[in-house]
Amino acid sequence: LRVETILDVAKRRGIPLPAYTVEDMRRICVIHQPATLTEFLGKFAEYMHVIAGDREAIKRIAYEFVEDKAKEGVIYVEVRYSPHLLANTDVEPIPWNQEEGDLSPDEVVHLVNQGLAEGEKAYKIKARSILCCMRHMPSWSMDVVELCKKYKKNGVVAIDLAGDESLNCEAFPGHRMAYEEAARCGIHRTVHAGEVGPASVVKEAVEVLKAERVGHGYNTLKDQVLYKQLLEQNMHFEVCPISSRLTGACHPDFTEHPVITFRKDKANYSLNTDDPLIFNSNLHLDYSTAQKYMGFTEEEFKRLNINSANSSFLPEKEKKDLVNELYEAYGMIRLNGNTTNQEPTTLNSYFHSGMSMLLCVHTLN
Ligand SMILES: *[C@@H]1O[C@H](CO)[C@@H](O)[C@H](O)[C@H]1NC(C)=O
Ligand SMILES: *[C@@H]1O[C@H](CO)[C@@H](O)[C@H](O)[C@H]1NC(C)=O
Repeated sequence: LRVETILDVAKRRGIPLPAYTVEDMRRICVIHQPATLTEFLGKFAEYMHVIAGDREAIKRIAYEFVEDKAKEGVIYVEVRYSPHLLANTDVEPIPWNQEEGDLSPDEVVHLVNQGLAEGEKAYKIKARSILCCMRHMPSWSMDVVELCKKYKKNGVVAIDLAGDESLNCEAFPGHRMAYEEAARCGIHRTVHAGEVGPASVVKEAVEVLKAERVGHGYNTLKDQVLYKQLLEQNMHFEVCPISSRLTGACHPDFTEHPVITFRKDKANYSLNTDDPLIFNSNLHLDYSTAQKYMGFTEEEFKRLNINSANSSFLPEKEKKDLVNELYEAYGMIRLNGNTTNQEPTTLNSYFHSGMSMLLCVHTLN
């Protein structure tokens, strides 16, 4: 979400904001120092009331998102958001103190799909979406899986569960039911787990919700039995370096980040951005952080990007094409499944070659 867009839309709709210049508004929205997840979630309240319920704004944000990612060199992205948090009817309670209106979660998904599709055409990259259930709103979850089913052929590739991890699914069966339905209907599944919550949340995500990928997953390392099991299963971890520091999920010293262990253990993981507005970040910043403080090399970036592509929620054929596109871009040729390096590119040219991958943990709201 661009600050400029928030200001524009607020002006058009006559909605008051805590600030009226790009600089001031950015200062209010951005977290600079390690904070808490609660503080981070509080930032949404500064601007979500401007966007929610507004058709033009929602479509515009989806379109601009694709533009921004294309400019970061991304060729395929999975973006996630909660349709309910952008609606103002057919949602209980109506979020952000909005008056009841006529924009339903269903139409929100339709508008986001339109914005993404127009962005794809204009910027020649591929964008798919993942719809989020919210931990504190189990009554929305069945709706979310129905929307995943309805728009499965139309841009939506998976279901996610986001929010406060202290709310487990044992106590809130709405999420479990939605995930069972997702599994039954072949809807891909990811779950935010082990970000600030304990390893037990990861265990529940994998065993009860049948997650195919784990959002963040850092605290898995605190249960070595579980970690070994997930390594063996090749479970995919969606890692967001900058976010994990600023939400207080990980030690503020990047040299102690759990992804260093994931790398050493050759785990299945991707590097992603998370809420670029609030963390004032982009994919380059996440990659350069991994390079500067965590000892990531070009070889590792390539390996993890190919892994990311192979872990995407695209249909098999499209997934293969994406993986092959990366092999080609990296000058690697595949021989009977083995790869050889043709002409190694330098890290610098990698960063500018327009070939970085971004998977998921990217939110619109
Ligand atoms: C993709 O993942 C499958 C396992 O699901 C594995 O067999 C295959 O080798 C992987 N391909 C690449 C290119 O990493
Ligand atoms: C990594 O995880 C993804 C997502 O579940 C999966 O599709 C992929 O096959 C895994 N990679 C390997 C090498 O098993």
